[in-house]
Amino acid sequence: MSMIILGIETSCDESAGAIIDGEKPVDKRILSSLVLSQLEEHRAFGGVVPEVAARAHIEHIHPLITGALDDANLTFDDLDGIAATCGPGLIGGVMIGMMAGKAIAASKNLPFIAVNHLEGHALTPRLTDDTAFPYLLLLVSGGHTQILVAEGVGSYKRWGTTLDDAAGECFDKSAKLMGLPYPGGPEIQKIAAECKNPQAAIARFALPTPMKGRKELDFSFSGLKTAIRQAVEKLPPANLNGDLKREDIADLAYAFQHTVAEIIADRCARSIQRFKEDYNIARPTLVVSGGVAANIAIREKLSEMCETHTIETYAPPVSLCGDNAAMIAWAGFEHLKAGENDPLDFKARPRWPLDPTAEPRHGAGVKA
Ligand code: KG4
Ligand code: ZN
Repeated sequence: MSMIILGIETSCDESAGAIIDGEKPVDKRILSSLVLSQLEEHRAFGGVVPEVAARAHIEHIHPLITGALDDANLTFDDLDGIAATCGPGLIGGVMIGMMAGKAIAASKNLPFIAVNHLEGHALTPRLTDDTAFPYLLLLVSGGHTQILVAEGVGSYKRWGTTLDDAAGECFDKSAKLMGLPYPGGPEIQKIAAECKNPQAAIARFALPTPMKGRKELDFSFSGLKTAIRQAVEKLPPANLNGDLKREDIADLAYAFQHTVAEIIADRCARSIQRFKEDYNIARPTLVVSGGVAANIAIREKLSEMCETHTIETYAPPVSLCGDNAAMIAWAGFEHLKAGENDPLDFKARPRWPLDPTAEPRHGAGVKA
């Protein structure tokens, strides 16, 4: 048996195309997966420029789709469905992947599945590990930081979200303040590894841990970003350009990363308690997904915390934590398998919450 799906992802600064066979066992499901990063296009601006992103997606989309088919040794005639991210994200980019997907679906008379990008991240543990519902999900990316319960395909309860910046956004903005390039997450991780005395670095900066210990399950990161700005202002410059000393950046990056891990682990520990009570599962699973889930300090802190709480933890391979099209193809497969597909006049959605019943959070904007 096979069900072969083409996935297309263009919602932010990565253009991606992938082919999966959803009916195969986990280790054989991904037939091809291509990701073209636009980092170079955006680096000069220190962040993602929507118009630049949309233009780059136009250039990438055709070679990505044909490349994904070639890598899988398949043609359009072998496909059983087309899944494309239709939101949330930068609308110009979303439109490009979505329209390409619809065009293929129309010309080949194939079902089209409009995928919620967040559901792509949310279902990744099922693509790579067959994780059973329900599971607790920490979604940490550049645009979102949420705690959700994944109850089933298309069925999510949002328990917590950020009240301001997303965790990845905080990594990126703090890195910029430290003089590191975009995207800040991997850069902070890299330079933090040079920190010579971690305990002293943590004590030296004494960064705040907003929301830690609070009963509600929300996050807040803008105060931490402000603390980084203040810390940077107090550091002595290494030269006349005002650059910081490398050892100081390493200490600050270490303390920052440690603090984000502390905040996230605290919020997750509280969610685990509630999950155990509400769902009456003795050994539940916490899944960590999204670009920030690639961070080693955060992964280690979470697995330590999960051991203490006797719960399983699972994070997808790093290559599938960031934006990719295999996760979009998989989400498409799960919906198609459930007998669902979407009309070709489906409209792109800049905002598309996974749990539409959750109360909006002031200040979080699309991040809620
Ligand atoms: O999921 P993703 O690829 O795109 C969004 O949907 O936002 O996440 C991108 C975010 C960026 O903010 C990036 O800095 C962060 O993930 N990131 C990391 C790491 N790798 C990527 N943050 C911390 N540590 C990392 N190793
Ligand atoms: Zn993402």
